[in-house]
Amino acid sequence: MVHWQWFLRRRQLFYGTCCVLILYLIHGALIDSAQEDSQVDLRKELIFLRKQGFFQSKDPGASNAQIPTVFLIMPTYKRPTQIPDLIRQCHTFLAVPSFVWILVEDAPERSDVVSNFLRRCGVPSIHLNAATPEKLKIKTQQRKRPRGNFHGTKCRRHFRFSFFVCVRRIEQRNEGLRWIRENTKGIAGVVYFGDDDNTYEHQLFEEMRDTKRVSVWPVGIAGGVMVEGPIVDPSTGKILKFNAAYKPSRKFPVDMAAFAINARLFHEKPEALFDIPKRDGELEGEILKYFLDSPFDMEPKADFATKILVWHTRTSSAVLTQEKKLKEPSDSHIKYVWT
Ligand code: UGA
Ligand code: MN
Repeated sequence: MVHWQWFLRRRQLFYGTCCVLILYLIHGALIDSAQEDSQVDLRKELIFLRKQGFFQSKDPGASNAQIPTVFLIMPTYKRPTQIPDLIRQCHTFLAVPSFVWILVEDAPERSDVVSNFLRRCGVPSIHLNAATPEKLKIKTQQRKRPRGNFHGTKCRRHFRFSFFVCVRRIEQRNEGLRWIRENTKGIAGVVYFGDDDNTYEHQLFEEMRDTKRVSVWPVGIAGGVMVEGPIVDPSTGKILKFNAAYKPSRKFPVDMAAFAINARLFHEKPEALFDIPKRDGELEGEILKYFLDSPFDMEPKADFATKILVWHTRTSSAVLTQEKKLKEPSDSHIKYVWT
């Protein structure tokens, strides 16, 4: 005879199993919908990135580019803060589509440290070098003409006073321009000159991308003031004046970081290269003079020049005064080059 308790236990077992099954199905459905949600999110992100041109060919030779390419020419030199500075640049540029980083080492040869760094960084880049002649490594003025062979470049006597003007970074920027001329014929693009310790907001590169001839915008912490750059009438879009406290008499009173030039112009004017300026601190005018009669012909960007998208920040030099106390250099075990 079957005991009544046996039935009870079977029924409990039946209901228990049903409950577990229902819970299992609900759980599965929830996970599926979460996965679907995240797939939808990822799909949306993909469409967004495609629209931004992120997956467009990064090959600077590609002629089917949908958006003009930004070519950034940047000199760099060996120092303790070089790689940390370049890392910050790398992380900004990774967010910029259709972008080529032309990094020109101020050195007789390209270094393994920099080429290795560029490979790890992953930003489309061109690695060049051009050494600054020792005698030209003078920041501003000096009274005697420096002696020696300067690879055809000479320090120039000041147009009025008795000292000489020697400017750095001419060879590196011209080397970058040589590459532009050899490699970008017929490619829609814009050329910009950068410092490796400046701070760039990635939106800056979108602003300069559609430059017709020469575009301009404000630069933060430049020329000894909070912001140096054009003042624009928003109703006409025209430049009214230039706010500059440092040498306001400059023909082009802007910082190197304040303008970009359509790459086509460098093919139209093969003679356009940097040279030692007649007056100290006027290197910008050395290149702008080839393309503009007046600074007021520049195309203002960054919301009628009301937004700061680049800052002339300066990395302070590393203080390594304690190194000499050590028997061996503190970095004797450090790998600066790795894959
Ligand atoms: C200022 C200007 O903004 C630059 O356009 C100008 O080239 C520079 O002065 C100069 O006179 O050389 P600043 O911030 O004072 O810039 O100078 P740095 O940032 O020290 O140098 C400008 C760029 O040149 C940097 O990318 C830096 O890495 C590079 N550099 C500097 C060299 O390639 N070699 C050097 O010996 C020094
Ligand atoms: Mn700098």
